[in-house]
Amino acid sequence: MTEKKVNLSDPQTNKEIELPVMESTIGADAIDIRSLYQQSGHFIFDPGFVSTASCESKITYIDGDAGLLNYRGYPIDQLAEKSNYPEVCYLLLYGDLPTTYRLEKFNASLIEHAQLDGEKITALFSGFNKHWHPMAMLMAALCQLAAMYHDELAIHDATYRKRAAHRLIAKVATIVAYIFRYKQNKTFSNPNCDLAYTERFLDMAMDDFDPASPLSQKYAKAMDLILLLHADHEQNASTSTVRLSGSTETSPYAALVAGVASLWGSAHGGANEAVIDMLEDIVASGQPPQSYIDRAKDKNSHFRLMGFGHRIYKNYDPRAKIICTICHELLSELDSGNTNRPLLDTAKELESIALKDDYFISRKLYPNVDFYSGIIFNAMGLPRDMFTVIFALARTIGWISHWDEMLCDKHYRIGRPRQLYTGHSGRDYIPIQERE
Ligand code: SDX
Repeated sequence: MTEKKVNLSDPQTNKEIELPVMESTIGADAIDIRSLYQQSGHFIFDPGFVSTASCESKITYIDGDAGLLNYRGYPIDQLAEKSNYPEVCYLLLYGDLPTTYRLEKFNASLIEHAQLDGEKITALFSGFNKHWHPMAMLMAALCQLAAMYHDELAIHDATYRKRAAHRLIAKVATIVAYIFRYKQNKTFSNPNCDLAYTERFLDMAMDDFDPASPLSQKYAKAMDLILLLHADHEQNASTSTVRLSGSTETSPYAALVAGVASLWGSAHGGANEAVIDMLEDIVASGQPPQSYIDRAKDKNSHFRLMGFGHRIYKNYDPRAKIICTICHELLSELDSGNTNRPLLDTAKELESIALKDDYFISRKLYPNVDFYSGIIFNAMGLPRDMFTVIFALARTIGWISHWDEMLCDKHYRIGRPRQLYTGHSGRDYIPIQERE
């Protein structure tokens, strides 16, 4: 097969530069510009990385125009219907769906690593007021793990990397459950080894969780699906943060602290919390949703329709479609459904208006994963500030799978972007008495 190439010509120097093209399996190919600076003395300029492939990956593929999402080649709607979160964790980390034996071994390892040192975590959390944001507590707990396991750091050892991955998938669930308990002034309970991963998490987090009860089984099914849908999303801001942090050879625990920090932002994972705030404002204000749509279109207002728009999806986020369906099903079965129904109705009305409005149509702004997820968490009785922490729990597998993949990548090297410098070209120091 002839190698694809592109030619760039520099009008100033009339120099022709030929660059190889790296071919994708599906989606966009990539122009290999690694030699561009050395050949041309020029950088590329791409703030926000709109047209930049930072790495090669086999984990997740998104077709933004078609609104498609695949984990290791498997369509998200098939996985949502037929799989579960632990099995998807195995798929993302190891690259293939597990056999029964391999899944049993994987689940046993997650049980083995689920325990936390209750005294140490209690001492850590005691430095946090109950009303402080739990994303900060999650970062602190990951810092504790980074310190605890620092002596065994061996990132080029595949066995170390997989053990760290299993530890994080297991322990972040326990940490998130304990954060929820601490904020409610409740004691911690040990992980119940007889329960599946998501049930084990809910059993540690919620007083009234009873694995035998149909309602708890509905909660567990909805939560497992939410975790599965949030598990990975190629090179989003927080995953790219984990990759860049991890590229310096820091510990995976420390790299995930950076990932949590990035996800916390309301433009990223924090949007699920902002959506509920927005929906509750609209319901409480009694104003028509149209007035909020008008504010979102008004360039003079800083208001954005939270849960809408996406850098990649220029079509409906496939995850939002599935979450919206779960929302309808859950609300119709929960007592809390009645109080949350106005939120869902308002969300549906906002969506209906926006999808007919040229401002949103012309910018291809559709509901994203965060638009409906908060309503489900609300209906399950989870406090608002726990929404993004649960997103972080779900995304732990995506972060650590990309970290692991990066360290196996033949192209791997420390990430060190350049810049377009437009500051002073050079000036001499002025003694303070001579300054104006
Ligand atoms: C997640 O990357 C991922 O994959 C992330 C994620 C994952 O799984 O990891 O999918 C999870 O983070 C989902 C996104 C959650 N964030 C929000 O819902 C916050 C609201 N949405 C936006 O702020 C925005 O849409 C972003 C941040 C999601 C995307 O921003 P971009 O790609 O930089 O787009 P942009 O800001 O350049 O917007 C393009 C235009 C602008 O108008 P013009 O300047 O062209 O006139 O669209 C407008 C924007 O003003 N616009 C919006 C809008 N989003 C974009 N206008 C009103 N409301 C919005 N929500």
